[in-house]
Amino acid sequence: MSKIGIFFGTDTGTTRLVAKKIYSLLGEELADKPKNINRTSPAELLQYDALILGTPSYGIGDLPGLATGCQEANWLEFAPYLDDVDLSGKRVALFGLGHQERYADRFASSLIHLYRLFYGNGATMIGRWSTEGYSFQHSAAVIDNQFVGLVIDQRSQPFLTDDRLQSWLAQIKPQLLPALAQAA
Ligand SMILES: Cc1cc2nc3c(=O)[nH]c(=O)nc-3n(C[C@H](O)[C@H](O)[C@H](O)COP(=O)(O)O)c2cc1C
Repeated sequence: MSKIGIFFGTDTGTTRLVAKKIYSLLGEELADKPKNINRTSPAELLQYDALILGTPSYGIGDLPGLATGCQEANWLEFAPYLDDVDLSGKRVALFGLGHQERYADRFASSLIHLYRLFYGNGATMIGRWSTEGYSFQHSAAVIDNQFVGLVIDQRSQPFLTDDRLQSWLAQIKPQLLPALAQAA
């Protein structure tokens, strides 16, 4: 597929909102409309070689889903479909939502499970993001002093979201485009 696929999980709609912002910043020539992961088939996701995937954080133990208190199915219910699927050749950038003031000890930690799911199956992970400008004690989503993807906090820092999205997209676009060129 010669476009970027954008998929998100959400419980209260914030990750959907951010996915829509990403879509409008990229434009319809580069990306397809964002889709909720609980209304996506594995084949739909796997048709893309360039992916932007988003998740909210609900706890540290696993991906968000019914078992972690979400009202609707989320990444936790989708993850088993990727068991034993070879994702090599896919370029994947992640974004995660969290609330650093309230959950300072596990800020945006669910993002690490999405990272492990895709990296563990062979995808090339791009789009790491600096922890500077955030205030928290601990996040499982930090590797080598960087978040494994863009972290957005619509609760404590909504005024920073648009700038963060623009900088991050400028960073990842050149890394996603080769995957589109190969598919074209
Ligand atoms: C019950 C509950 C648990 C949460 N747990 C975390 C958490 O562990 N870490 C974090 O950074 N944010 C946590 N949050 C904040 C959400 O991740 C944040 O509000 C996010 O924007 C929600 O996204 P959504 O509207 O797409 O579901 C939690 C929120 C709720 C209501």
